[in-house]
Amino acid sequence: MPELLRFDAYMDEALYGASGFYVRGGHPGAREGDFVTSVELGSLFARCLAGYLDRTWHELGRPDPFVVVEGGAGRGTLCSDVLAHLGECRDALRYVMVERVAAQCSEAQARIGAGAVEQLVAAVPDLPSGPLVGVVLANELLDNLPFRVLERSHDGWQEVHVQRSESAAVEVLVAAGADAVNMAAALAPEAGVGARIPLQLRAAVWMRRALGLLSRGRVLIFDYGVHRTAELAARPPADWLRTYRSQRRGHDPLREPGTADITCEVAFDQLPPGAALSSQADWLSAAGIDTLTAGVRAMWDRSRAAPTAEALAARILLDEASVLTDPDGFGAFWVAEWRIG
Ligand SMILES: C[S@@+](CC[C@H](N)C(=O)[O-])C[C@H]1O[C@@H](n2cnc3c(N)ncnc32)[C@H](O)[C@@H]1O
Repeated sequence: MPELLRFDAYMDEALYGASGFYVRGGHPGAREGDFVTSVELGSLFARCLAGYLDRTWHELGRPDPFVVVEGGAGRGTLCSDVLAHLGECRDALRYVMVERVAAQCSEAQARIGAGAVEQLVAAVPDLPSGPLVGVVLANELLDNLPFRVLERSHDGWQEVHVQRSESAAVEVLVAAGADAVNMAAALAPEAGVGARIPLQLRAAVWMRRALGLLSRGRVLIFDYGVHRTAELAARPPADWLRTYRSQRRGHDPLREPGTADITCEVAFDQLPPGAALSSQADWLSAAGIDTLTAGVRAMWDRSRAAPTAEALAARILLDEASVLTDPDGFGAFWVAEWRIG
């Protein structure tokens, strides 16, 4: 008997169900992973973040404990690299990795637990309870939270569902409910017939919970996306509904569910208001990426004609900085910061 699932329910199953992409071991990684993230490129992103955490700790009056909650922590790469580069806030820091997928959560805990900081770090499947003083952060989490998809038709908005049988999954359009119609009409009033938009309610709810956790602090989100949902309505859906598998994009999200990641460019107008938005390139520049790489740049410039092993390592770090700030790639990601209290 075929079952009819709303797109977000289908995506939830395809990523996090018993045979879901993440449960079967899909993960980010520069070489053996399915897609690359800033975190997996190397440790430069984490070093910038560690500096940000130190500065924020001072700005908040050096609280103890200073709690850092990382949403979508995966296998613990960012946590491990941040802990290796922390400055003065180190003694006050408690780091909570939040990872929905049990196997990744255990892997993250084991990886960090092998170091000397075991008692300061926890890996849990959901956001902890507050109130806390500190920072909630997430890199490429919101794009991975299941979203709904609406299509503008001649007689109003319809919602994408997926009819699934043992042999196939096919798309079915169903008249959208009143709430979804009202949201779609407000977010993309000019959408033409055939235009599609995502409704990222789970991302909005996650953000509200993250903001509600803190009595004082910052919520810091890194992700690809757009300012306004209406921008997505003007583009082909295959452009913003992205799939990744073995470092390639473009896999049909309905084919072989569980074998590819399914994500969506984040529409920042669907998140709680009040964030300061900057590009990742600008944020990293303000966070000191140029200062961090100045020494290796000088070394590379000195020895590029006859590079030593050390100079080649310097070159790798410079390449990492270029990729992180590339205006056509990671540099164009958005960084959204909410300040609380
Ligand atoms: C695209 S990966 C990013 C991993 C890591 N932040 C990075 O930048 O490499 C998204 C991660 O978020 C996790 N995730 C999805 N929904 C989650 C939720 N509600 N709470 C915590 N983690 C979640 C996924 O299992 C996956 O490990």
